[in-house]
Amino acid sequence: MSVAMKPCPWHSELEVNDLADKAAVRIRGLSKHFGTGDRRVQALEGISWDVFRGEMTLIAGPSGCGKTTLLSVIAGILNADEGLVEIFGNDVTAMNDRQRTKFRAKNIGFVFQQYNLLPALTAAENASIPLVIAGWSKDKAVSRAREVLTSVGMGAKTESMPNELSGGQQQRVAISRALVHEPSLLVCDEPTAALDAETGHTVMELLREVAVRPDRAVVIVTHDNRVFNFGDRIAYMDDGHMIKVETRNQGLLAS
Ligand SMILES: Nc1ncnc2c1ncn2[C@@H]1O[C@H](COP(=O)(O)OP(=O)(O)OP(=O)(O)O)[C@@H](O)[C@H]1O
Ligand SMILES: [Mg+2]
Repeated sequence: MSVAMKPCPWHSELEVNDLADKAAVRIRGLSKHFGTGDRRVQALEGISWDVFRGEMTLIAGPSGCGKTTLLSVIAGILNADEGLVEIFGNDVTAMNDRQRTKFRAKNIGFVFQQYNLLPALTAAENASIPLVIAGWSKDKAVSRAREVLTSVGMGAKTESMPNELSGGQQQRVAISRALVHEPSLLVCDEPTAALDAETGHTVMELLREVAVRPDRAVVIVTHDNRVFNFGDRIAYMDDGHMIKVETRNQGLLAS
């Protein structure tokens, strides 16, 4: 399957030649284990890796190799045992829990396999949550959420409840929620895994179209090789290690 990438409208505005300037996430010597004694699992072992802004980076690898753990540490949901995680120059490993929670709410958007929508809220209310957390009034937040939903083709469904929506539509609400506060980093864990092939393809196309920006990095965990063509870079993990990083496209900031 080959996917034609859309021409990039921002490319010509950018003058970024130094690869170091593109670093959005910088990881050095990252390790994380779970459990103790016989039950000890080394989920991540000495990972050093960079993620670049203006790109969609995929993390691939077999079940249990540490993909979700790595994404969770990057997103500040899990603490690492050792190592450095810098997001747009901010050392999240040095932050205390309160600082990290605040940083995460402002700068990171999440998309999960199972959408995680609140069943009692409409699509627009669900998508507005990060803005409400950021202190926006409910009316303003929902109105902004409606705009984002419209931009992902959900303008006719803003007042629907999650159980009235298809899987692909629910994922579009989840993507809107992840992007509504314009985060610098978007992380997605298996966003197409609950969808059929065609809907998964549409969701990946949508993510490329609405989420990839010169000042944002998008990191997507997947073990679905049908979506590999959407990545600018693919980082392969195995047994807690990053074993290979493959460049597919040059991203928005290619010089
Ligand atoms: N909370 C936890 N407690 C104990 N072990 C855990 C925990 N979370 C993950 N692990 C273990 O850490 C390893 C990495 O798990 P992780 O969820 O990161 O894998 P994954 O690559 O995301 O797998 P999948 O593709 O199945 O989602 C696995 O061996 C898993 O059993
Ligand atoms: Mg996982």
